[in-house]
Amino acid sequence: AATARVERMPHGERARMLAGRRVALLFYESSTRTRTSFELAAKSLGATTTLVSDKSSSIEKGESLKDTGLTLRALGAECIILRHPASGAPFLLARMTGLPVLNAGDGMHAHPSQALLDLRTILTRLYGAERAVTVTAESLRGVTVVITGDILHSRVARSNAMLLPKLGAKVVLCGPEELLPEDALGLGSGVEIARDFDAALRQAVAHGPGVAMMLRIQKERLAGMELDLGDYIARYQLNGERMAACAPGALVMHPGPMIRGLEIAGDVADGPQSAVEDQVRNGLAVRTALLVRALGAGGFESVTV
Ligand code: NCD
Repeated sequence: AATARVERMPHGERARMLAGRRVALLFYESSTRTRTSFELAAKSLGATTTLVSDKSSSIEKGESLKDTGLTLRALGAECIILRHPASGAPFLLARMTGLPVLNAGDGMHAHPSQALLDLRTILTRLYGAERAVTVTAESLRGVTVVITGDILHSRVARSNAMLLPKLGAKVVLCGPEELLPEDALGLGSGVEIARDFDAALRQAVAHGPGVAMMLRIQKERLAGMELDLGDYIARYQLNGERMAACAPGALVMHPGPMIRGLEIAGDVADGPQSAVEDQVRNGLAVRTALLVRALGAGGFESVTV
């Protein structure tokens, strides 16, 4: 609801919501979509933004997260958007600075704004914009979301597996043992594991709308793990042939960055069922609402996103 409200707001009114406020983007890992959308969202609300990245700041010289956070606060930052390789870093930064901190991805733990934009994308693509305004425990009843790929290292998978079942969706995590160990995941209710991608896709579309959410293999987190890519592609790549055979009507999603030819074929990424660009657009809208809430503007704190 909060997202729809800011989205419908006239530009001039939106640009006054955070006029004069300072937002810092603190990125210890590379990012294209998340960083740019948070930055453009803050700017569309009239805020001043500053970007500190590990590659071009005193972080390279060894400055700690705490000291970097305190420096940003001393410079007037009222909210910090943090991406960090360590799980829990946003929680620590919030405690150390007392500022609202928005998690833009922490290690293998969580990526909450991604799950929210994915939810909005699924609702709007399956049911239209109106159904995305108010969500209930029934909003995704009958919908199966098959999340396939490097689940082990994916904060996107974890956040979606937490969020989507709360709205009635069934989440099926799919991948080989190396990337989806049976015992390493604390699975909540509404979440299952599958090894056979074809069967999981077929089941997903058998009784209701199906979503195929594909994930990148996170080379930077593999830590020496060997993976036979030819075998992986044969079993888990989402390509035109597999779509036609197993899930002709499924909605295709990917948080990006996509590695075309590996987890997803170019024709599927560019095809009519692909919601990849919608995901990016929804990211901007959702992050705009999150910033308004984090900075307590416009009475949004009482709105449940
Ligand atoms: C993901 C991330 O950084 O967690 N990308 C994103 O934010 N859209 C996924 C990835 O890096 O593969």
